[in-house]
Amino acid sequence: MNFQRVFGTLPKTKASAPGRVNLLGEHTDYNDGFVLPTAIPQRTTVQIGFSNDKLHHFYSAEYDELINVSDEDTIPQKFVSYICGCMRLLEKEGYKIPPINLYITSNVPIGAGLSSSAALEIATLRGLRALLNIPLDDLRLAQIGQLAEIRYAGLNCGIMDQMASSLADTDTMLFLDTRTLNRRPLPFPTGTEILVIDSGESHNLAAGSGYNQRRAECEEAAKRLGVKALRDIANPQAVEALPEPFNKRARHVVSENNRVLEALKSLPAERFGQLMNDSHASQRDDYEVSTPAVDALASILQQIRGVFGARLTGGGFGGACVALVESGKAAGIALEAIARYQRAGYTGRVLVPEVKN
Ligand code: GLA
Repeated sequence: MNFQRVFGTLPKTKASAPGRVNLLGEHTDYNDGFVLPTAIPQRTTVQIGFSNDKLHHFYSAEYDELINVSDEDTIPQKFVSYICGCMRLLEKEGYKIPPINLYITSNVPIGAGLSSSAALEIATLRGLRALLNIPLDDLRLAQIGQLAEIRYAGLNCGIMDQMASSLADTDTMLFLDTRTLNRRPLPFPTGTEILVIDSGESHNLAAGSGYNQRRAECEEAAKRLGVKALRDIANPQAVEALPEPFNKRARHVVSENNRVLEALKSLPAERFGQLMNDSHASQRDDYEVSTPAVDALASILQQIRGVFGARLTGGGFGGACVALVESGKAAGIALEAIARYQRAGYTGRVLVPEVKN
C-alpha cells in the first residue's frame, strides 16, 4: 500500500526525522539538566497531501491502519495522538491547517526507548511546515513536539527527544542544556562507535509506567530542597537529608548531571565508558527505572572485550541498552552479546549498527 493506493491522490510533500539514542543524561531533561543524545540512522517519514473531504486521514504502514479524524473529534489515543496533537498546537499558534491525507512509514523501533514518538512528531511538523510554508525554526518545532506529547499523549516528558530528533545528526553527540536550550555538537570519544541492543522488553511510558511519577518525585525533591529544579544542586551530599524515595531520585539526577558535564571534557573512551556504567547503576539502584532483563543485558555488554561502557538508554522500564565500543568492533560485539543474552534466557535484537533484514 502506497500513498496513492490508500488515498487515490498523489502527495504534495514528504519529510522525515530520526529516532535518537541518549549516551548520557537520563531523566535529567525534566529537571532542567544536561543531556547528550545522538541521532540514529532509523527514521520516520511522512508524505502529506490535501484531503478531498472535511476529514483528516492518517495511514500508518507499520500498523496497516487508517484513521479518520475531524477537527471536532476527540483525538484517539493511538499513533494519531502525536500527529493530531502537533496539528492542534499549530492551529493554536494561528496556522490554519486544511484537511490532509498523511501517510507514515518508519523503521524507528517502537517501545525501545529510541524516541519513535518524537520522530513522528518532528517528521509531521516538518511536513506541515513545508506543505503550508509555516515560518517556524527547528527549535520551535521541538518545543511544539514536546507539548504535543505532554498534552495529547499523556507523557509528562522533557525536551530531549524532540530536540534530538529535530537538531541532532548521527556523526556527533548533541550536548544540550535543557534549561537555556544552549547546545553544541560534540565528537564521540576517539576510536569509538556506538552499539544499541533492544532488551526485548517493550515499554509504554505514557501508560502508567512510573515515568510521570518519577517526574513528580523530582519536583517534590526540588521543592523540599528549596530550588527551582534539581539542576540547581551540584553537590550530591545536599540530597542525603531527604527522606526516601526523594533522596534516591535526587541523587541520580544530581550525579547524572555531573556525569554529563564531565563528559564535555574530551574524555578518553575508558573514562566516558565508566561514566556510562555508573549511569546504569544509578538508574538501577537510585532511580529504579531498570528491569532484570535490561540489567542482564547491560552487565553482559559491560563484560565483553572492546566495550568501554554500557547502560540503559531512554525512559526505562524496559527498552534498549547503548554501549560505547571500539571502532570497527560493534557488529562482532553485538553477536557475542546477543548470544550471551540468549543463554541468560532472553531474546535481544541489534538496533544500531542498523542491520538490513
Ligand atoms: C523519555 C522522555 C525524555 C527523557 C527520557 C529519559 O525518552 O521523552 O524527555 O526524560 O525519557 O531521559
